Formats: sequence, C-alpha cells, structure tokens
Amino acid sequence: MANIIETKSLNVGYGPIHVIYDLDFEAPEGAVTVIVGPNGVGKTTLLKAIMGLVTVYSGQVLFKGQDVTELPPYERTKMGIGYMPQVGNIFSRLSVAENLKMAAYTVDDPSLIEEKMEMIFTLFPVLKGFMHRAAGTLSGGERQMLAESMVLMRDPKVMLVDEPTAGLMPKLVTDVLKKLEEMAETTGLPIILVEQRARRALEVGDIAYMMRGGRFTFKGSAQELLNHPQLTEMYLGAIEVHELKYVRE
Ligand SMILES: Nc1ncnc2c1ncn2[C@@H]1O[C@H](COP(=O)(O)OP(=O)(O)OP(=O)(O)O)[C@@H](O)[C@H]1O
Ligand SMILES: [Mg+2]
Repeated sequence: MANIIETKSLNVGYGPIHVIYDLDFEAPEGAVTVIVGPNGVGKTTLLKAIMGLVTVYSGQVLFKGQDVTELPPYERTKMGIGYMPQVGNIFSRLSVAENLKMAAYTVDDPSLIEEKMEMIFTLFPVLKGFMHRAAGTLSGGERQMLAESMVLMRDPKVMLVDEPTAGLMPKLVTDVLKKLEEMAETTGLPIILVEQRARRALEVGDIAYMMRGGRFTFKGSAQELLNHPQLTEMYLGAIEVHELKYVRE
C-alpha cells in the first residue's frame, strides 16, 4: 500500500543537539503505525519533524510521496497532516465548544464543520453533554478525546498522536486506546501513534517501530513484536535488533 508519510535518511536535532539519526520511516495509508520506546529516545522529535517543528539537518519528509521537508507547519496542516501534541493540546479555560471552533479556524466550509461535529459526537458521545464546560474541568480521558476531536475538525488525511495515554489511570489507558482504534476503523484514517506503553499500543497497531537513541531497533508487524518473547528485553535495550529476522532468532 502507498505510504501517507515517509521519511528518508532523516537527521534531526535541536540546534547542535543531534537527536534523530538516518531514520527511514514509512506509515502506509489505512493503517495504525505505532512507534514505541522509552523516555527521551526521539519519538516526539520524529513527529515534530514530520510537522516541521524542528530543525532537519538532512534527509526528507514525504507526505503522499511529495517532499514537504521545506514547508512550514501551517502548510503541512492545510495539506492534511493532523498533529495531536503530547502536552498543551487543549485550551483549558475555553469551553469544549470553543476548543472545537478554534481547532476548525482554517476550515472555511460550514457544511464540513457540521459533518465533522457529527462524526465527533458519534465517536465520542460523552463530549456532546460537555459542550459548555471549560475544557480544564474534563477528566484526563475526556481531555484526550477533545484533543483528538480538535485534530479531526481540520479534516486530516493522516493523524499523528503523541502519547495519548500519558498520565492516565490504567483503566483509562485501555479506554483511550480502544477509542483510537475505533476511530481508525470507522474513519479509515491512517494514524501514527507514539506510545511508551508498548504492549497496549501494539495491541491497537498494525505496523510497529521500536526506537532507541534516535534510531529504530525494530520495524515490522505489530503482532510480531507483541508476541515476541523478548519484547521486554528489546524495549529496555538489553538486546538490539535491526531486522525482523534477527528478532525471530
Ligand atoms: N527543545 C529541545 N531542546 C533540546 N533538546 C531537546 C528538546 N526537546 C527534546 N530534546 C531532547 O531530545 C531527546 C529526545 O526527546 P523526545 O522528546 O523526542 O523524546 P521522547 O521519545 O518523545 O520521550 P518521552 O517518551 O519522554 O516523551 C531527549 O534527549 C530530549 O532531552
Ligand atoms: Mg515524547
């Protein structure tokens, strides 16, 4: 299947701090691609690079095969790259309705806004009752639903989701990831999901990447990685793998 997002030999950093090394990444249309890995390995940095929010030293970011490496973030948003950041993804003092309205400020077509609102209420019926509440009063799980809805308002063609379960109680983790899976299934929207909680994320993913030190140590099917007896060791970096065939040994 064609790739919605691709990176080629991508090197990225913050000023002189080199974080991502020669990364080749592919996220196909119609799939949930999961990137797992512990703290500080460069997961968020990769999503930021796809959005144009960090310095690319070399390499390319492609959207639907088109090179977008030089484009500013707002151009990428308009093209259809949706991004839910890890933090600061809602306006706490604004109501739920206002948050959704703000999110759709780039959308001119009122019928499209209406269509997206309907879709959001079908996916997250709980939000319907909270339209006039300040977003800051929502529970952690509800906030994530709102943050995801805000991305959906912009009619994305792909959605980058950075650790939607961070800071949530275990029960909510399952709920949030199940909802995300449901969203992928009902909309067919390709999703790139970054998660520290490897097992949970792999259960909802189709394709998996494992990251350490700004490089991938695994690339293959989510199922394969999930069922691998040494998943934990790989995750913690006790063993390094670069190809699926090595993982199987
Ligand atoms: N603005 C910044 N300036 C300098 N270094 C940064 C900046 N943001 C991140 N880094 C560094 O880049 C590395 C990768 O950070 P990144 O946020 O991509 O990790 P992550 O895999 O998303 O981790 P987590 O799971 O904790 O969110 C870390 O060493 C981090 O300290
Ligand atoms: Mg992160």
